[in-house]
Amino acid sequence: MKRKEKIIIDTDPGIDDAAAIIIALNHPELDVRLITTVMGNVNVDYTTNNALKLVEFCGKDVPIARGADSPLIREYEDASYAHGETGMDGYNFPEPKKNILNVHAVEALRNTIEIEKDPITLVAIGAYTNIALLIKLYPEVAKKVKRIVIMGGSLSIGNTTSSAEFNVYADPHAAEIMFKSGIPIVMVGLDVTTKALLSFDSVVSIKDSGRTGAMLHDIFKHYRSATMTNGLRMHDACAILYLVHPELFETKEMFIEICTEGPAMGATVGDIRNAYHDGKTNTTVCTDLDIDSFNNWFVDFIKNIDN
Ligand code: BDR
Ligand code: CA
Repeated sequence: MKRKEKIIIDTDPGIDDAAAIIIALNHPELDVRLITTVMGNVNVDYTTNNALKLVEFCGKDVPIARGADSPLIREYEDASYAHGETGMDGYNFPEPKKNILNVHAVEALRNTIEIEKDPITLVAIGAYTNIALLIKLYPEVAKKVKRIVIMGGSLSIGNTTSSAEFNVYADPHAAEIMFKSGIPIVMVGLDVTTKALLSFDSVVSIKDSGRTGAMLHDIFKHYRSATMTNGLRMHDACAILYLVHPELFETKEMFIEICTEGPAMGATVGDIRNAYHDGKTNTTVCTDLDIDSFNNWFVDFIKNIDN
């Protein structure tokens, strides 16, 4: 078997975050060293409690640290219209027994990255506020990061404004710091994730596959990113798929810059024609993904967890 990849998940669960976390925690090729939370889909109290619930549901012992409760500069706007009031409504999780770490997510990121011998991959599936703070406060530690695989951004249309995807829009100034950091970035954005619809058949087939499938099915009923019948957008699970099956994606190297003001605030501007950066790139952008492969992988994986 391949050597496990050490990862830290920075997240705002959130229903598609929940699916991503469940898969990552159970994946034989991934070693989740830390989960850090951030405001986003719902406030950081909810996202932190949701992360605790998911880790306990999986019976894992992964530390969790609470992170930023607001963006660096702009006002916080949630996405409870898509994820419900608590971000994970619909399933009766027991109240978590474990506590979070008694340090801020940024300190937990610093400690974990410093302690680990191997470079760590950050998987950022919420706003990038914690990551930007790490880069600014502890630049030498941030340099040790192997890469940041993000769910976020779009080369074309947005899902929050005409041109902005939610995670970038949630804290564009943080996104700007991250993209300018020099750390290699893989952008798993709307260009692939809006295609990654979990089909009606897939949703039905996980329903009776065991306790994990049943739990996901229950929270999916409260998800408003597309519909149960037309397919559900599993944005964040695509970032995990990229970690374990990059060969299923088409990618292009390019320079990404962030628009931090005006009507395009939160846009990820890709230098697709290489007109501005003299051949330099800062991001591997995922441009295509096979939907059937995505569905098969998702369903098989969830079924296997319980069997
Ligand atoms: C992203 O925004 C959030 O609502 C989802 O959890 C995902 O991370 C999609 O734009
Ligand atoms: Ca998310």
